[in-house]
Amino acid sequence: MTTDLRTLRETIEDALRHYQPEQSATSQPLIDAMRYASLSGGKRIRPMLVCATCTGLGGSLADALAPACAIEYIHAYSLIHDDLPSMDDDELRHGLPSTHVKFGEATAILAGDGLHSLAFETLANAPNIAPALRLRAVQLLSRAIGWEGMVGGQSFDLEATGKSLSLSELQTLHAAKTGALIKVAVQIGAVLAGVEQSKPETFVLLSEFADRLGLAFQIIDDVLDVTQSTEVLGKPAGSDADAGKSTFPALLGLEPAQEMAEALLAEALPMLSRIGLQNDELAELAQLAIDREF
Ligand code: IPE
Ligand code: IPE
Ligand code: MG
Ligand code: MG
Ligand code: MG
Repeated sequence: MTTDLRTLRETIEDALRHYQPEQSATSQPLIDAMRYASLSGGKRIRPMLVCATCTGLGGSLADALAPACAIEYIHAYSLIHDDLPSMDDDELRHGLPSTHVKFGEATAILAGDGLHSLAFETLANAPNIAPALRLRAVQLLSRAIGWEGMVGGQSFDLEATGKSLSLSELQTLHAAKTGALIKVAVQIGAVLAGVEQSKPETFVLLSEFADRLGLAFQIIDDVLDVTQSTEVLGKPAGSDADAGKSTFPALLGLEPAQEMAEALLAEALPMLSRIGLQNDELAELAQLAIDREF
């Protein structure tokens, strides 16, 4: 990772702490669980995508930070719920006990709910952003994580467990459960830079880039579940096969799955060249999202 991206990640870590409550007179265990789930690890790919897209298009990093945190709070909520016994039933996340193991199932569910609403509060209050752009970001995010996006995808993932899907069904599943949040991270970065209105063709191209990145990201997640150790992943290796999940390696085999992710990246990167961004951060992040060990 380049120094610029490392610095960006540290800036995001600080902002994630900043927008998060520390104490509550109502329920301290809830706040502790929210902080545990959102502040103890993670690659921070999605908030970095928001910031890199915004600055690559000439927007301000300072303005992108609150919306970037909103996206990461949603991601953290999704992981708490994803690990629950009623979903993937995984007891390790970021090398630590999953939130429900540490705090109990009820508090974990509520911590997910709390992060969900904190995300929208943080986005709606984001400083220095024109109200119309904030509203647009809220529209895009709510749609991306809802019934036809992330949550719809998680539901499809549960339904598909133990079944064999076609390639196109599996693409639909992955595009929804993981792709939608990655895509909206890029789209919100572009909205903040004012580009959806001023350069609609750039917005479309970035959305198409992010579609490919999101799908490739989940394919690699599936591949790593097979090829990596629990220690490196910080989450239980082999969890997908144990649960009978529909994954790309299960459907296509390991190498074709890896090749498909690489082919998606090879399609996506030239789209960025066509846009002519002001820095290379988005391209570097896309590469990192595919060439990773965990
Ligand atoms: C894991 O996402 C869940 C998926 C959607 C594949 P990440 O691999 O981005 O999770 P962290 O936050 O970096 O641990
Ligand atoms: C998780 O997909 C997708 C969401 C949380 C929306 P996975 O179930 O594959 O993620 P990991 O492997 O547990 O991180
Ligand atoms: Mg899952
Ligand atoms: Mg899981
Ligand atoms: Mg996985």
